[in-house]
Amino acid sequence: MTSIYIMLAYAKAAAPPKPVLATAIAELRRRGYEVLIGVAETQAIRPERLAVAADLYVLKSHSSLWLALSAVLHAQGARILNPYPACSEVMNKVLATWRLAAAGVPTPRTWVTGDLARLSAAGAIPPLVLKPNLGGRGVGVRVLHDKRDLDGATATDGMLVQEFVPGDPRLVKLYGLGDEVFGVRRDADGTRRQLAVRPGLAELARRCARAFGLALYGVDVIDGDAGPTVIDVNYFPSYTGVPRAGERLAEFIAAYANGRSLGPNGSHRHLAGGSRSDPATTVSQDGDRIRRHASRPSTATVDSARTVSTRRGDRRATVSSRRRTRRRRGPAEGGRRSRRRHRR
Ligand SMILES: Nc1ncnc2c1ncn2[C@@H]1O[C@H](COP(=O)(O)OP(=O)(O)O)[C@@H](O)[C@H]1O
Ligand SMILES: [Mg+2]
Repeated sequence: MTSIYIMLAYAKAAAPPKPVLATAIAELRRRGYEVLIGVAETQAIRPERLAVAADLYVLKSHSSLWLALSAVLHAQGARILNPYPACSEVMNKVLATWRLAAAGVPTPRTWVTGDLARLSAAGAIPPLVLKPNLGGRGVGVRVLHDKRDLDGATATDGMLVQEFVPGDPRLVKLYGLGDEVFGVRRDADGTRRQLAVRPGLAELARRCARAFGLALYGVDVIDGDAGPTVIDVNYFPSYTGVPRAGERLAEFIAAYANGRSLGPNGSHRHLAGGSRSDPATTVSQDGDRIRRHASRPSTATVDSARTVSTRRGDRRATVSSRRRTRRRRGPAEGGRRSRRRHRR
């Protein structure tokens, strides 16, 4: 049975995955995939023992913890959707600025400095937007409307400054699955409605995805009078407002799990397809022991309250006895086994 491990974001209030993801998970299970779900923040994972166990990892979370653990799995040749390098690069807004510009994508002019007093000499005049390099969900993003705002602001390490792009404040969200691009308009009150995406805008989104090697991507655009400007690119967005989003996601993930190389025009830098992973490969994490053998039923444990409601049955009852069994057997040999896998 092909196993898919979903690296899920931590939510303080234990809540089931959002409807789109919950539908995708249910649909994947209906199709016979073994779907495991994990929240890194609720486990005690030992990186030095982390090894590849699932046939496919799906990086849904944008937490630095899951991103770092993805790096460990990637180093061992795990198949990750989206590929780790693509996720890592798109999270770095300084690098993303360069990548997008190099790909010919219209982006706001951007400056990086630790001393905002240097901006005006460099041609950066308010209105400006100050944002953290490694950020998300708009946290720490500030508009500097005028010189007074600028004089009163300080840039902490890792901030970047962008020219403020005027335009329709109701952001257009572009959601991509491979070559397919959907548009959603977010109104001021938060309502989302589907938007017909003109071909130029869809191509722009695909170009953004190709720049990083993303297969599941979201592109934030300000579609102003002067044409569209890309403000932000994200991996694995919410897809909220996309019709049949859960089913489409399941379809895409299933195809990818089966080894199909998917991406805009099939030309992604990091989406080289690759072989299915060795089903006997072991993942072991002392403490949580996410572990799996092809020859035995799955012993994977997913330590998350969110998991229970989304899994078929409740496996938690069986976890402790399995753990005891494994401890008697001694440390898992996941690291050694996984080294058989080639690096891509
Ligand atoms: N250069 C800009 N011009 C106008 N508005 C911007 C600009 N940059 C960001 N914003 C606004 O701030 C929001 C968050 O910025 P974004 O770059 O997407 O950061 P995050 O990664 O935190 O989502 C955007 O959705 C947009 O509304
Ligand atoms: Mg954003």
